Amino acid sequence: MQTHKYDVVIVGAGGAGMRAALESADRTRTAVLTKLYPTRSHTGAAQGGMCAALANVEEDNWEWHTFDTVKGGDYLVDQDAAEVMCKEAIDAVLDLEKMGLPFNRTPEGRIDQRRFGGHTRNHGEAAVRRSCFAADRTGHMILQTLYQNCVKRGVEFFNEFYVLDLVMNEGRTAGVVAYELATGEIHVFQAKSVVFASGGFGKVFKTTSNAHTLTGDGMGIVWRKGLPLEDMEFFQFHPTGLAGLGILLSEAARGEGGILRNSEGERFMERYAPTIKDLAPRDMVARAMSTEVREGRGCGPDKDYVLLDLTHLPPEVIDAKLPDITEFARTYLGVEPYTEPVPVFPTAHYAMGGIPTNIEAEVLRDDIHVVPGLYAAGEVACVSVHGANRLGTNSLLDINVFGRRAGIAAAEYALKAGWVELPEAPEAATVQLLEGLRSGEGGERTAAIRKELQDTMDLNAQVYRTEATLKQAENDISVLKQRYANVTVQDKGQRYNTDLLEAVELGFLLDLAEVLVVSAKARNESRGGHFREDYPTRDDVNFMRHTMAYRSVDADGTPGVHLDYKPVISTRYQPMERKY
Ligand code: FUM
Repeated sequence: MQTHKYDVVIVGAGGAGMRAALESADRTRTAVLTKLYPTRSHTGAAQGGMCAALANVEEDNWEWHTFDTVKGGDYLVDQDAAEVMCKEAIDAVLDLEKMGLPFNRTPEGRIDQRRFGGHTRNHGEAAVRRSCFAADRTGHMILQTLYQNCVKRGVEFFNEFYVLDLVMNEGRTAGVVAYELATGEIHVFQAKSVVFASGGFGKVFKTTSNAHTLTGDGMGIVWRKGLPLEDMEFFQFHPTGLAGLGILLSEAARGEGGILRNSEGERFMERYAPTIKDLAPRDMVARAMSTEVREGRGCGPDKDYVLLDLTHLPPEVIDAKLPDITEFARTYLGVEPYTEPVPVFPTAHYAMGGIPTNIEAEVLRDDIHVVPGLYAAGEVACVSVHGANRLGTNSLLDINVFGRRAGIAAAEYALKAGWVELPEAPEAATVQLLEGLRSGEGGERTAAIRKELQDTMDLNAQVYRTEATLKQAENDISVLKQRYANVTVQDKGQRYNTDLLEAVELGFLLDLAEVLVVSAKARNESRGGHFREDYPTRDDVNFMRHTMAYRSVDADGTPGVHLDYKPVISTRYQPMERKY
């Protein structure tokens, strides 16, 4: 075992982690620990843009952006956090521009902007061009730009170090424990501040835009430490995944004029969102698509998808603004988007919930009290800027605004705070976890359990839910958890043991799927991405509140989920009917 000492340790090297690192490394000794090589992080998969009310191409302002974010999130957004994000958005884009990000430009040389779902002018009058973009590779460009700037500033990376435990002493942050994939060695990092920026957990679903690595490790670690998770029932389904595959086709396609059509060729979004049609927020579009399929207006031999029509767009617009996603359609479905519509269906995309934080990115241990020295930013966190449904392009914004805030806050805390002593044998729980899995002989296979988990989540906890389907998912997860106790890792070696890694990841997925389902079963209303067919309307009287899930342990030692609630922070906007 090796030990290391840094003022600040950042877990994850996606956009939030690297944006935090740029701030923290300027102020204190900082290490970034990442399961993946940094430029393979999932931020690179985000396509269509990062929004900010620059007003470069038409009138706009940060207050309209805040209103859209609050309304898009079905009023579950903490409005103080949304105000911070939308105000700081402008500098966040300009910072990236100064770092060298190659944004698309207007003929006058300004950063170009495009339309995206739910972003409107003057409180819903019409779609507004607010998303700054680099073709359909915006996340990729952000990731590369941040990485190059981290390298320039000498940020220390520990690549392919898989963080498996948070070390605490008497409620204060003392460091983390990591497993080095190349060697199988355990490393203890003592730190005054720890920032989790490790992304989401989309792999609980089968049909997802998320990479294989999005297994919710950060949320899972914090959960097992007895800290809460917030609003986990709210999971976003992006309307346009490639049918049958889930690979993301950016909403930018609709921002540039693409149209969704059913088997009758009808532009069906005109019925669901007469004002902004195909550019309604994702929860509404995903539900509309599912409804078209359920009501028999789906396309293809099994009538199980709808079509994204780009054939009316000039090929030069497609090539300049949507090159990657149109290539995906050609490569994976053999469809030529210049001349043929592309089969699409909703795909699990983004966790609105996560580790609760305040606007300084400090992690909360309950409704109000922070965990000293612990921070979180990006998809792993729930500062609640997205509420019940995130608007497209607000996530690349979130990682930049709150990644920056987390880096500054963690460094400033570390400059003031003393070292928290490491408890005796801080690596013990991690060694026990790994050795338990490595020596298991029960014969259950990780891939089989993961497949059954994803099947039940797709069937029972997707765009449409009922108490009965959620109960079914809960029962299935409970059985799968029992089987997981008998999982057998076939590779007993130390070097690059991905078999062991996937077994660990599955444990986190099972925990988080259970939290999602239990939280969803208790929310007897429909709001944003959580649609209950048995409670089809929003219920502000009983459910205008955040879910706070805590790990509980039964008398016989079985872990479970205990739910509590906390109020939504409202500053200026009262809930209204959500019409588009
Ligand atoms: O559709 C997209 O390009 C995805 C963007 C986002 O999730 O913000």
